[in-house]
Amino acid sequence: MSFISKCDATVIQGASQALSQGNLIAFPTETVYGLGADATNPDAVKRIYEVKGRPSDHPLIVHIASLDQMDQWTIDIPEYAIKLARDFWPGPMTLVLKRSTKAKDFITGGQDTVALRVPAHPIALSLLQEFKEGIAAPSANRFGSVSPTTAEAVEEELKDYLSPQDLILDGGQCLVGVESTIIDCTKQTPFILRPGAITSAMIEESTGLIALTNNDGSIRVSGSLDSHYSPKAKVVLDAIAEPGDGLIAPDQIPTPDGVIRLASPRSVEGYARDLYAALRLADTKKLDVVVVLQPGGDGLAEAIRDRLARSAYGN
Ligand code: TXA
Ligand code: MG
Repeated sequence: MSFISKCDATVIQGASQALSQGNLIAFPTETVYGLGADATNPDAVKRIYEVKGRPSDHPLIVHIASLDQMDQWTIDIPEYAIKLARDFWPGPMTLVLKRSTKAKDFITGGQDTVALRVPAHPIALSLLQEFKEGIAAPSANRFGSVSPTTAEAVEEELKDYLSPQDLILDGGQCLVGVESTIIDCTKQTPFILRPGAITSAMIEESTGLIALTNNDGSIRVSGSLDSHYSPKAKVVLDAIAEPGDGLIAPDQIPTPDGVIRLASPRSVEGYARDLYAALRLADTKKLDVVVVLQPGGDGLAEAIRDRLARSAYGN
């Protein structure tokens, strides 16, 4: 595996070629780092599952360069999905739509839907534009663990599993820090499968439709397994902070009692950006327990509480 820090046009061309040859490319997006493969190549996609240690019936998101490529992968796109795509792509939003014959079972896990996203990071976009084909990419972590938000975290996580021809493209720290909002667009109205930076209020504003979500406390379809987003350290959830509470900043952790107390820093956005790095730090420091103060409020804060509930599941 090679780690590439300066991703100029030549590097992007090389990475695109490597994808055509069936290799894996870890690349930055604005949410988290993805582990990419040619979405039309079953052998390449199979390697994603091997490297992640992920069950093979889990569907993957196909990343595309622009909404013009949507109808290659899907059929029956509802009007409201087009509105969402126009308003929020490139951006931290994934749309689940009825699949076309191009989206094979090895991408969709045998479901009749496919997940599509146009990411907003310049490196991801140049790679997609150069490659011209869809890139299947889950978060670049081992199955069940915390998504990486830096290239170093990808290397640490996957170096023992990647092959010599695979690449890690370094694009710095991810701006959003939590995975994209996943919206099921196969029904009359949008349904949020995984909350993220594109909030229900934004969806309503864009489409005029109320986005339903599973608020009954049961676990959602996506990322729904017991130990998701989990570091090795035991995650214990502390109280929900009131919005605006000025608490301990991430650079002041761990606290003297040896526990990482990840408290809401400057803003909910700042909290989201630093959350996964702080959870990883707990493992680097070999802490047994990480106590996490949850941000209050709706929107992105909901997405953070959703991930934290899964990190702490069973603890
Ligand atoms: O922000 C993101 O979405 C990142 C970056 C790399 O784009 N990707 C990401 O992928 O989080 P992954 O595979 O770690 O999570 C995607 C989730 C999975 O839980 C999967 O079950 C769900 O999307 N998913 C994929 N296709 C689906 C489909 N057709 N229907 C329902 N859920 C789907
Ligand atoms: Mg993931």
